[in-house]
Amino acid sequence: MDDWTFNGSSTREYTHVYHDYPARMIPQVARKLIRTYGNNAKTLYDPYCGTGSSLVEGIVEGLDVFGTDINPLARLIAEAKTDYSMSNDDISKEISNFQNVIYNTNRKMNLPLIRNVDTWFKKEVLQPLGRIRFYIDEIQDVHIQRFFKIAFSETVRESSNTRKGEFKLFRYAPDKLKAYSPDPYRIMLSKLQRNWKGYIQFNEMISKLERKPKATIMGLNSTTEIPCKEIPENSIDIVVTSPPYGDSHTTVAYGQYSRLSSEWLSLTNGENIDSKLMGGKRLKILPTLPSEILNSVIGILYEKNPNRALEVAAFYSDLLSSINKVSKIVDENGFACYVVGNRTVNSFLLPTSTAIKDFFEYNGFEYITTHLREIPNKRMPSKNSPTNVAGETSKTMLNEHIVVMKKNKF
Ligand SMILES: C[S@@+](CC[C@H](N)C(=O)[O-])C[C@H]1O[C@@H](n2cnc3c(N)ncnc32)[C@H](O)[C@@H]1O
Repeated sequence: MDDWTFNGSSTREYTHVYHDYPARMIPQVARKLIRTYGNNAKTLYDPYCGTGSSLVEGIVEGLDVFGTDINPLARLIAEAKTDYSMSNDDISKEISNFQNVIYNTNRKMNLPLIRNVDTWFKKEVLQPLGRIRFYIDEIQDVHIQRFFKIAFSETVRESSNTRKGEFKLFRYAPDKLKAYSPDPYRIMLSKLQRNWKGYIQFNEMISKLERKPKATIMGLNSTTEIPCKEIPENSIDIVVTSPPYGDSHTTVAYGQYSRLSSEWLSLTNGENIDSKLMGGKRLKILPTLPSEILNSVIGILYEKNPNRALEVAAFYSDLLSSINKVSKIVDENGFACYVVGNRTVNSFLLPTSTAIKDFFEYNGFEYITTHLREIPNKRMPSKNSPTNVAGETSKTMLNEHIVVMKKNKF
């Protein structure tokens, strides 16, 4: 049956359990795409790899995988999730050691620079978090160190004053905050234990493979470049990706989501990632894109709200630029599978799935199909602020479209 919903399936198998992230791809979708369109495939690329859901699935299927993402925290998580080089025992020993050491230390730590630290953290959690960070810095094995870092990242988030279940940074209300008393050591230990179990499961899957696949994860802006040394032209058999739904100011603020963890882990030096993400910079004039329906929707939107139309156009212009590059690195008879949602802006439904089809056709690809998927699991805001006016919201999307394109023989 052509069911892409996977209602009730666990999205937390293997290393998928490691870390939350906005709009994560459902592993089963990536798995089914690889099994349906990746027959005999050896290489997979995800230009917006985020935390690496499609990369993990590619690895489990024995493919060499390549991922690029502009967000350093997402890359750190993707690197951890695709790493199967550690021994189960070594991780277990380090967790036991952590438990022995961390409760027996009172050392006063210097903390990394966290903007508005008093807004986002209670005084009581700062030194414990500082001690965990110090412990991690002292771990010699970089793989195990990374395993600890991503558990720490979730510990930071859960020890902070941010409302849980939100992507943007929203502080708890004062009465809630008063009664709130997170325990960073306990949170860290439970994340480590949980992730260790996921790792064992992942490692077991990999041990069954005859050939050990490789993961390469790189930090760059996929609208402006694809590293031609690591990913040469015509080298990729299948692309499986879920690009952002729109500019991060009005859809998913990946930078804001990642900020506290990134600062505690010193991954960024205070720069605003969100303005660098796709559609982060508004255009000055409307471009003509190779998609009639998209041009016409943006044109009508422009008459109602020129600034918003220019923001929307910036996103699609970046998407086109990225697809032009992705098209080159896919091999002949290779597939590009894009999981996207069609969102509304100012009550206009933006035809992202058709635009993706048009952009790939513009690059000589053949349209294969669009699978429809309802969204029961994916954690993402169901409402956004399409007008950018506080309090005004509308549905982000109703379902997902999985657009499948094929590169024909040259
Ligand atoms: C929908 S998320 C991908 C989630 C991923 N499939 C997962 O399961 O974790 C989109 C990703 O695109 C990244 N991104 C946005 N603009 C980008 C750009 N210009 N270059 C590279 N990555 C970008 C964001 O940082 C975010 O991680």
